[in-house]
Amino acid sequence: METKLLYEPLDRVEADAVAVVLFEEGPAPAELNFAASWLEELRSSGEFAGKPGELAVLHHPQTLKARRLAVVGGGKRDKFDAAALRKAVGTAVRALKQKGVKKLAWKLDGLVNKTLAAEAAVEGALLGNYEPDMHKTSSDAKSLEAFYAVAAPNGAEVERSFERGRIFAECQNFSRDLANEPANLMTPMLLADRARSMAAEAGLECEVLDQDRMRQLGMGSLLGVAQGSAEPPALIIVRYKPANAPKSSDHLGLVGKGVTFDSGGISIKPAEGMEKMKYDMCGGAAVLGAMRALAQLKPSIPVTALVPAVENMVSSRAQRPGDIVTSLSGKTIEVLNTDAEGRLILIDAIAYAQRLGCTHLVDAATLTGAIVVALGNVNTGAFTNDEALLGRVMAAAKDEGEKMWHMPLDDEYKELLKSAFADVANIGGRWGGAISAAWFLKEWADDTPWVHLDIAGTAWLDDAKPFMAKGPTGVCVRTFAKLALGW
Ligand code: BES
Ligand code: ZN
Ligand code: ZN
Repeated sequence: METKLLYEPLDRVEADAVAVVLFEEGPAPAELNFAASWLEELRSSGEFAGKPGELAVLHHPQTLKARRLAVVGGGKRDKFDAAALRKAVGTAVRALKQKGVKKLAWKLDGLVNKTLAAEAAVEGALLGNYEPDMHKTSSDAKSLEAFYAVAAPNGAEVERSFERGRIFAECQNFSRDLANEPANLMTPMLLADRARSMAAEAGLECEVLDQDRMRQLGMGSLLGVAQGSAEPPALIIVRYKPANAPKSSDHLGLVGKGVTFDSGGISIKPAEGMEKMKYDMCGGAAVLGAMRALAQLKPSIPVTALVPAVENMVSSRAQRPGDIVTSLSGKTIEVLNTDAEGRLILIDAIAYAQRLGCTHLVDAATLTGAIVVALGNVNTGAFTNDEALLGRVMAAAKDEGEKMWHMPLDDEYKELLKSAFADVANIGGRWGGAISAAWFLKEWADDTPWVHLDIAGTAWLDDAKPFMAKGPTGVCVRTFAKLALGW
């Protein structure tokens, strides 16, 4: 999709539709004076009250060059922020493209903070336009071909914001493409291939540790999960290095769970809903999407992404409940449940990230069903051993409209992971499951400032939203990219 900032009066913009946000309180901007009676009628009939999600279309608007005028509800003016704008654009794009609109212009002026507005608008458009239909040989989903943000000329900052939004959203859609692939087309090796070609295109370094290398290194925890599958595992490493010597010694590590299919292993999952477990690599997809954005936006801090990629399967070679494995750090683990595999692969990646010199770690993982019980599909669960790092992550998430909730990690929860036969057990019993999972990771993060994001509830939409298709959301791509850019 073409995206462009236009600096021209609204009435001169050529497009299939021009969209303008109207608030509950009114009034409409002066450019819409010609349509005053139509707007009046919309309000008095109750057809359009300016509420979020509302949309009305006027054909052949007098005085406009565009063929249609769309008014889009913004809700209450003082509640309208960048996140609301992103959703409003996405909602309008999804509705208008189905009506055959190919070129949409959006009046940006007068909406929220100028630098955030341009970013949010173009993100809303690109994210809303995305359809996970790459494997349909014919699809009824139509698509927008061009999105123009119409602004008063106000310089470099708006240009930069718009460009950042375009890159963020394209990389988020790249991540959604990875996550949407079924497990037969996205094995650990295929994910590694995708990472390699992304890195080559973007100008990043990529290295893939194979099974032999991981055996030499002693990644027994990761390999234990992989051993039940005919598909060999991979530890994917992508590196971004700033061109100029960085001012500090900080080195950000982004770790993403890359389970290309989670059957549960011998502790097998119920059949119902198991097909969704192709999305158990969304954390990995998110960090790869973020790296793609960073290659273009060039933050001043070095960033290394690590994606432990495995398939968790059932076979005669599969790991058994009760097996004891030795992780890269030397700590031993009693595997009481083979379905708690995410943590087992993440901790070997975390230990390796520390060896690579990462000073700060952030991981994203579809780690537990328990976080979905706690937070539903609205907030990502955020856990940390370092409040300062969490503050940075939360600030980036807020800018990007990605909701996160700080979850507790008190020492008392550590007890849950006690094992009679090894250093720790890989599960902590029935209650507080998202917390015991996070505690497991914390054991390995140790003194390294670390944030864990449990995205099991936010990485996938079971039902489409007005502003986003059903399926993978690409959550965390923008937050990770913003975190590194703002470092
Ligand atoms: N991939 C799942 C977590 C998950 C569940 C993601 C639902 C998305 C939706 C993870 O590997 C898992 O199976 N976790 C278990 C842990 C349990 C065995 C301690 C869970 O949450 O049930
Ligand atoms: Zn599992
Ligand atoms: Zn899993």
